[in-house]
Amino acid sequence: MIGTTRDPGARGPLAELAARSAGHLTVEGLDVADPAQVTALRARLTGRRLDMLFVSSGTTSEEDTPVGEVATEDFVRVMVTNALGPMRVIETVADLVADDGLIGAMSSGQGSIANNTAGGRELYRGSKAALNMFVRGFAVRQSGTRRSVLLLAPGWVRTALGGPGAPYTVEESVSLLMDVLESRLGRPGLAYLDREGRIVPW
Ligand SMILES: NC(=O)c1ccc[n+]([C@@H]2O[C@H](COP(=O)([O-])OP(=O)(O)OC[C@H]3O[C@@H](n4cnc5c(N)ncnc54)[C@H](OP(=O)(O)O)[C@@H]3O)[C@@H](O)[C@H]2O)c1
Repeated sequence: MIGTTRDPGARGPLAELAARSAGHLTVEGLDVADPAQVTALRARLTGRRLDMLFVSSGTTSEEDTPVGEVATEDFVRVMVTNALGPMRVIETVADLVADDGLIGAMSSGQGSIANNTAGGRELYRGSKAALNMFVRGFAVRQSGTRRSVLLLAPGWVRTALGGPGAPYTVEESVSLLMDVLESRLGRPGLAYLDREGRIVPW
């Protein structure tokens, strides 16, 4: 298993997990906003075969700001981290994924256009809706293959991004998300699913 972080030298949770993994988890440096780093990672992985490629990079901005009032640099940062960056990784690394493997990205329920009746978080929602559309386009290009393509909506999780008020812990969420990922292996085509494996409307 390979995990990435922007600062692979940091003694964070990923490094601790790798240290306890008896070599099963290795850590690579990657900033998805830097195309040169994506290309360099692909080069370092040459010769590897991946069962799954899953991109979970994500960020947000001031949640209550209407998108038309967002600073351009915030718009670019969120869209690049949440939509363009993951697609660059997918396009660049996909050739290492097994013919019957899985390629996916961490979306959000907030990326559902149909479910957006509450409003708010306009830039974040837009970036995840863009990610959904881009992954859908990628999936069309994968049709006719045995690969599974997946967008996951993890629910509201207590992370740096989710904040302390979120109802779900990382531990319970990751376990459920891994179950959904594994359930999609060997099932060609695109799905947009929540943490219980239920379909999320586009
Ligand atoms: N928490 C929630 O309630 C919730 C709900 C729905 C969807 N999500 C999605 O779940 C994913 C993970 O978020 P989280 O809740 O775990 O938030 P988090 O704790 O803030 O983690 C953000 C993750 O994104 C990575 N990242 C950010 N910018 C990056 C960049 N430029 N290049 C590469 N990686 C970058 C971070 O990696 P490093 O800092 O290690 O480099 C970290 O792994 C995101 O896509 C988020 O939108 C979260």
